[in-house]
Amino acid sequence: MKAVILVGGEGTRLRPLTYSTVKAMVPVLNKPFIDYVFRYLSNHDVNEIILALGYKPDCITDYFGDANQLGVRLVYSVETDPMGTAGAVKNAEPHIDDTFFVMNGDIFTDLNLTDMLRFHKNKGAKVTIALTPVEDPTRFGVVETDNQKRVKRFVEKPKREQVTSNMINAGVYIIEREILNRIPKGKRFMFEHDVFPSLLADRGPVFGYATEDYWIDMGTPEKYLQLNRDLLCGKSTQVAFKAGDICVGKRSSVNPQAKLTAPILVDSDCIVGKGVQVKGPVIIGAGCKINNGATIENSILWQDVTIGEQAVLKDCIIASNSYIENNACIECATIA
Ligand code: GTP
Repeated sequence: MKAVILVGGEGTRLRPLTYSTVKAMVPVLNKPFIDYVFRYLSNHDVNEIILALGYKPDCITDYFGDANQLGVRLVYSVETDPMGTAGAVKNAEPHIDDTFFVMNGDIFTDLNLTDMLRFHKNKGAKVTIALTPVEDPTRFGVVETDNQKRVKRFVEKPKREQVTSNMINAGVYIIEREILNRIPKGKRFMFEHDVFPSLLADRGPVFGYATEDYWIDMGTPEKYLQLNRDLLCGKSTQVAFKAGDICVGKRSSVNPQAKLTAPILVDSDCIVGKGVQVKGPVIIGAGCKINNGATIENSILWQDVTIGEQAVLKDCIIASNSYIENNACIECATIA
């Protein structure tokens, strides 16, 4: 089975982190996010991944080259301009020969794709959309289904009094190849706004596969922080880290007078100075230096970050090579 991963949006909601890289490459527990997606798909018998690249493709191709990832073949499908979610898949059409998966490149989920495929076949669906519950559906595109799980209606950002379902499009699809005929070539086109509603209007069999499994769209700084925090606290079945763990990488030194509260992940070649307080969940990338007396709480540092003496960081994301001055006090910030 083949899967297309959409890794082409500009990632505006994750700025400034996406000025220097793409959303799919931001580190999660010190590894590129997309590594987790590769592993997830390969665990569900995907043997070829087509990366639909619409924005800064070099960030991905330079890193992965033509390497086989986990025994999965990687194929690049590069757009000259971002073509939208469906346009990007149309651009990848020469690589698609049968029923295929599509995944937004900013979704982390434990959803059982193998079971979803079984559901898709049993229902005779042309498109199956994974659905996930949210507390407040008014900010999302809601998907209504009937008691046979067939999609009845898409409702974009419903007003509170119009809410009839809290299930939203989870950004994971199973699609029959013939659906590509509904997507024009060379035109910006979206699954969510163009392809699925028109297929529904033509009474096409579109089904919703509801799941309560772990799911997050990590496309904003808050959600990106939450994903890292959730994985450190053992909320996904895909990561073995537990809330009580403190893990320090090779050649890293932690001063005996530093105080560490789990969960904490420190990569290699870091220095944690005297009197430093690290209050987990905290992730520290390779080559970071935390100078004496600094406090870091619920934050992520990418690589080669230096934190000045007595500085205090809370709920922060600090991109690679940043320098935080002595005595700085920073809360809820994304610094790149
Ligand atoms: P924001 O600008 O922050 O909203 O992010 P985004 O541009 O990535 O858009 P959004 O999160 O709505 O996109 C959902 C998924 O589709 C993401 O994984 C995007 O990378 C991907 N995507 C969106 N537009 C395109 C496109 O034109 N081409 C490709 N290949 N992927 C796209």
